[in-house]
Amino acid sequence: MAGGGRQRSGGRRAPLAALLLLLLLLALVAWPAGGLDNGLARTPPMGWLHWERFLCQTDCAQEPRNCISEQLFMQMADLMASDGWRDVGYQYLCIDDCWMAPTRDKQGRLQPDPDRFPSGISKLADYVHSKGLKLGIYADAGNETCAGFPGSYGYYELDADTFAGWGVDLVKFDGCNVGTLELLAEGYKNMSWALNKTGRSIVYSCEWPLYQRPLQKPNYTEIKQYCNYWRNYFDITDAWTSVKNILDWTSSHQDSIVDIAGPGGWNDPDMLVIGDFGLSCDQQVTQMALWAMMAAPLLMSNDLRRISPRAKALLQNKEVIAINQDPLGKQGYRITKDGNFELWERPLSGGAFAIAVLNRQDFGGPQMFAFSTAFLGSGLACNPTCSIQQILPTSRDLGLHSWVSFLKVAVNPTGTVLLKTVVIEEKLVINNGSSHSPDPL
Ligand SMILES: *[C@@H]1O[C@H](CO)[C@@H](O)[C@H](O)[C@H]1NC(C)=O
Ligand SMILES: *[C@@H]1O[C@H](CO)[C@@H](O)[C@H](O)[C@H]1NC(C)=O
Ligand SMILES: *[C@@H]1O[C@H](CO)[C@@H](O)[C@H](O)[C@H]1NC(C)=O
Ligand SMILES: *[C@@H]1O[C@H](CO)[C@@H](O)[C@H](O)[C@H]1NC(C)=O
Repeated sequence: MAGGGRQRSGGRRAPLAALLLLLLLLALVAWPAGGLDNGLARTPPMGWLHWERFLCQTDCAQEPRNCISEQLFMQMADLMASDGWRDVGYQYLCIDDCWMAPTRDKQGRLQPDPDRFPSGISKLADYVHSKGLKLGIYADAGNETCAGFPGSYGYYELDADTFAGWGVDLVKFDGCNVGTLELLAEGYKNMSWALNKTGRSIVYSCEWPLYQRPLQKPNYTEIKQYCNYWRNYFDITDAWTSVKNILDWTSSHQDSIVDIAGPGGWNDPDMLVIGDFGLSCDQQVTQMALWAMMAAPLLMSNDLRRISPRAKALLQNKEVIAINQDPLGKQGYRITKDGNFELWERPLSGGAFAIAVLNRQDFGGPQMFAFSTAFLGSGLACNPTCSIQQILPTSRDLGLHSWVSFLKVAVNPTGTVLLKTVVIEEKLVINNGSSHSPDPL
């Protein structure tokens, strides 16, 4: 409020009622800009979610190590605490579909499968909390979950109360078996209210736009008022094609989804499959880099009992996580597509930018991509001078650059080079036209 020149109408006293009305109107006008008011997910949630890796394996006789059971989650909780995952930010240990018994109990409450979760969810939540972690659970807005377990339709308040009573910290609410778009919207809203009414802080993960989009354009302003994050696109699989499809969907819809993301509400491109079977090392670098660019929830779906040191180092890379968790909370976007290359940027706090150069070519060797710093941040990222740090595939200092520097990076096929620019105000000695050789992976 530094507008010293303007004269305010000092002497007039607005009647209290009119003033209150004005405040109310201002609040109503201001409301759509805000998100779900539960104080949670101020940065994208980080954790582990069982679905992509463990699916709906309910046969513990055949698959004792990999079935959806309390043992699996206790083992993951142990490892999240002991192997550095929790300490770099992976906090939410999340159960997906197939944890339930086939029917509700006599009081109509959801109950876990008694053979696979003999101690109950409340005990599991205590265990997870004792490790300094939080527990996520799964339910569905419709009559049945996607895998055919009891749905929450008609039971939103009871299920929210049950989850809160158990000490659950996050609910992923799916949208299978919902008959109409009206019921879909009402279901997601009613569950949001029901969770709020429990008084417990519970992160609310939605799939509302994913199920709405084929039939109707999602209203993200509205979705953000009810959800902490939301899926837009199909489930990820353990395959480069799937990662590419998600990136293509996201960049082709960026005009309608990027601006809505921010503290409290995020677009969710689905789980990280780093450490699984389908992605090459370079493709894993691409997923980590681009999920950081997209301000995506970082929910790993892998086996923490068996993960390569390289995948672990990538997932625990603090500089990449810092970009993902940047407090400004702006989602990145693709600025250009040039042949096989895509150039993405993400504004960060303090005038910094994250820059990703993705080589989509899936044959041959490393390719050089040259670009001017004048492109970055609409010309502001490196003005008048900036320092540039390479973060992936390896960390290195790329020195100082001016706003007219040309930067050349070599990018492996299907790989990504992730950079961070930090503006320096004074004019300094410039390293113009630097070239960097690729890192064999
Ligand atoms: C419920 O919503 C109100 C108002 O929107 C908010 O102030 C409060 O913190 C919320 N409570 C919980 C537990 O999310
Ligand atoms: C659940 O099934 C009932 C009975 O068929 C139906 O009336 C109701 O609309 C369904 N609910 C949803 C969310 O589709
Ligand atoms: C949502 O809540 C409203 C108000 O209680 C109720 O009228 C409506 O039927 C509910 N919708 C669903 C899908 O549960
Ligand atoms: C989207 O939702 C917001 C908040 O509910 C509402 O103000 C706005 O009119 C809606 N936009 C459209 C196009 O329906």
